Amino acid sequence: MVRKIVNYKIADESLSAQGEEALYIAQNKMPVTAEIIRERFQKEKPLEGITIAGCLHVTKETANLALTLQAGGAEVYLCGSNPLSTQDDVAAALVKRDINVFAWHGNTTEEFYWCINECLKAEPNIMIDDGGDMIVTAHKDFPELISSGKVYGCQEETTTGVKRFIAMDRQGKLSVPLFPVNDARCKNQFDNELGTGQGIISAIYGMHILFAGKNVTIAGYGHCSSGMALRARGLGANVSVTEVDPIKALKARFAGYTVKPILETLSEADVILTATGCKHVIPPNPEVFKKLKDGVILGNLGHFDIEIPTKELYEYAKEINPIRKNVEELIFPDGKRAYLLAKGRLANLVLSEGHPSEVMDMSFGLQSLMSEYIVQNHTTLKPGMIDVPKDIDDKVGYLKLEAMGIKIDELTEEQYNYIHGFEEGT
Ligand SMILES: NC(=O)c1ccc[n+]([C@@H]2O[C@H](COP(=O)([O-])OP(=O)(O)OC[C@H]3O[C@@H](n4cnc5c(N)ncnc54)[C@H](O)[C@@H]3O)[C@@H](O)[C@H]2O)c1
Repeated sequence: MVRKIVNYKIADESLSAQGEEALYIAQNKMPVTAEIIRERFQKEKPLEGITIAGCLHVTKETANLALTLQAGGAEVYLCGSNPLSTQDDVAAALVKRDINVFAWHGNTTEEFYWCINECLKAEPNIMIDDGGDMIVTAHKDFPELISSGKVYGCQEETTTGVKRFIAMDRQGKLSVPLFPVNDARCKNQFDNELGTGQGIISAIYGMHILFAGKNVTIAGYGHCSSGMALRARGLGANVSVTEVDPIKALKARFAGYTVKPILETLSEADVILTATGCKHVIPPNPEVFKKLKDGVILGNLGHFDIEIPTKELYEYAKEINPIRKNVEELIFPDGKRAYLLAKGRLANLVLSEGHPSEVMDMSFGLQSLMSEYIVQNHTTLKPGMIDVPKDIDDKVGYLKLEAMGIKIDELTEEQYNYIHGFEEGT
């Protein structure tokens, strides 16, 4: 048999056996994506002849998504969605399994975009983005691809990317059909809340601290950050929440957290963790940095490295000591120290392995079914934002329940008519 030509640039092909172990561990915890949908895709080949490019965190869970798309008949290209989140062993295992991968841990900004360009050169019919960098690059640098009609549809995996595409759409600059899969119920209520929620352990991995008794500030009380606050409290921390949205702030207060402005938490916080999708959550100002408590741990779990002002902190520090992998000690002019996790990038992906496979099973089950939906419906899809169809969102929920052996009730006809009617009252 002639082996297919695989296009790739990765760190080290010899890591493939180690990567296979990681893939296997994830596969066993991803029954929806890696078993039920993959087996059907294998038989029905709904993605035959389709090229799919993913700009995603190259983790063992993403690998299982890639293999499911491949089982459906797609030619899959993959690049990383963050310079520090690629797991090099997983990338090597994927290349061995004929997935085209352009990703390695620690690539520079220039290399990061080179990898995206290599995937776009394959002229994908579907783009699956995490943060918006691939689809925005396609619009800027591959105008012929966008205008050619070759792109059937796109999917965005995270809140920050969805916000970028909403802005693009408002300005009339979004020229492809775009499904914000992040906003589906089976995605952000599990992946963001449970996955990123549990991601606070990156602070434990980083510095091996005890949360119990610590003052922990969580910036934001959205999907990710409310999960983070819950887990931090569960570990015994005194949690303060900061917000800019009055309703979210009230929800945090009524859930029992202290709510206050970020500046008021700085002098007492032992750990500050951000996940807001907003810039400069800690203001980039030396007068502000002086307020930080000695020994504070600073970590970001939001998509981009702009929530904690890393650049300004590096400039302010008189000494920067890399004390362990992806943790730096910053010594300030007044002698106080701060410990910065993952250079301000997604700490749960950089210090740990990202979200647990069980939740990514739902996110990637959805991405798989949405790829099939895009292929089946591409002739009628129009450029712009399009909600994930509710029946596909529900389908992932039902498949997950089935895989977990859980049955639920079904509405009777009478109940259905009651909740959809107005006649019956007092
Ligand atoms: N680490 C991960 O693995 C992971 C996973 C999913 C999402 N994300 C990213 O996490 C970020 C948050 O996502 P989400 O789904 O929770 O979004 P969300 O919109 O549900 O929540 C964000 C919250 O932050 C608040 N906020 C905004 N600016 C603020 C500021 N300056 N100070 C305090 N609060 C502020 C908002 O009011 C909102 O309540 C995004 O960047 C998203 O892409 C990361």
